Amino acid sequence: MSIINKKPCELSSQEIRDLTSKYLMPNYRRLPVTVVRGQGSRVWDADGKEYLDLFPGWGVSGLGHCHPRVVEAVREQAGRIFHMANNFQVAEQAYFAQILSTKGSGQQCFFSNSGAEANEGAIKLARLYCQPKYKIITLMNSFHGRTFAAISATGQPSYQAGFTPVVPGFSYAILNDFESVKALVDDETAAIMVEPVQGEGGVIACDVQFLQSLRKLCTEKNMLLIFDEVQTSPARLGTWFGYQHFGVVPDIMTSAKSIAGGMPMGLIMARPEVAAALKPGTHASTFGGNSIGCAAGIATFQAIEEDGMLGNIKALGPVFDQMMGDLANDCSCVKAVRRTGFMIGIELAFDGAEVVQDCMDNGLLINCTHGTVLRMLPAFNITKDEISRGFEILGRCLKSAVAKNAGALA
Ligand SMILES: Cc1ncc(COP(=O)(O)O)c(C=O)c1O
Repeated sequence: MSIINKKPCELSSQEIRDLTSKYLMPNYRRLPVTVVRGQGSRVWDADGKEYLDLFPGWGVSGLGHCHPRVVEAVREQAGRIFHMANNFQVAEQAYFAQILSTKGSGQQCFFSNSGAEANEGAIKLARLYCQPKYKIITLMNSFHGRTFAAISATGQPSYQAGFTPVVPGFSYAILNDFESVKALVDDETAAIMVEPVQGEGGVIACDVQFLQSLRKLCTEKNMLLIFDEVQTSPARLGTWFGYQHFGVVPDIMTSAKSIAGGMPMGLIMARPEVAAALKPGTHASTFGGNSIGCAAGIATFQAIEEDGMLGNIKALGPVFDQMMGDLANDCSCVKAVRRTGFMIGIELAFDGAEVVQDCMDNGLLINCTHGTVLRMLPAFNITKDEISRGFEILGRCLKSAVAKNAGALA
């Protein structure tokens, strides 16, 4: 078997695709684009073609690609120490936790490596704190990740198919239907876990009243309210944490994706009284809170603050609204548009996969979820010009999709 004798950055697009299909497991439905470089909301493939990226790293690159402050922090930290085990004091971890707690509501932090791992830990913490109560109510169409507890919490049977039996104790209520939640509560219910805005589920936000009712119910029944904020925090909704946008404080929240500006990191935050249940020996993660990730996280929060990104999200949200409104007026195929902060969904009358492909061919990267919902998770520092350019390409691609789907729309 021959090994291609080049550096990864010297491979051609075709060589990358060949290696991928031969050596990587086939679990991802991969687009053919071979992105090798990024800057802000722009990326380039191995052949030098430029794309506008309105879905950077599936929401991971919230600061855009390669934010200079994060790049510098990673470089600087890598030259000092990568990682120190969690049975020692870790300066960057303690410092980052202080920032998170101060921007939040005085919670304590546990660091992991991914969103699913953070949710896994949150579920363990809820069971530990509430024992012997163990049941957790989540929502239909939710998405909480791919580990066993996370797929068990996920209210979409397709994610559990082939993996049953899943972890027992989960039941699924209807989003924004408080009675459906109440009907599932019994003496063994430990917690209610929701995404404040369902991302994979089609960019659908919980109502403030719904979240307030969940908060009240949890307090009354001694249950914990858990927010899965893997997509909504930090900053994505125009506030440091998504719960601040809704004005409802959960007992436990999780985050990941853009928390460390592109470095892998997951986070659990819990109020100290709940966090106290996580005594030595109950939970751990070898890589969790490693120094490079935490240095990147610190730089991410500093960059959001110094570059005024929360303000940018608030200021440019209405620009998205206007452009989506124009799109809906121009294209009969747009059934609904939805936006909370910088989580954007455009529901079509037909499958969106072809539109995503056409946009890609025309230099625009977006996503489609739930079959028909075009989705954008733009960088917090995107500009008005970049948004205009993206919608100009999207408008053209939608018009050509309408022409192709004329029969289905008639
Ligand atoms: C709301 C939510 N929870 C959990 C996850 C899982 O995160 P990860 O893929 O980092 O495990 C995701 C990923 O998209 C998510 O959107």
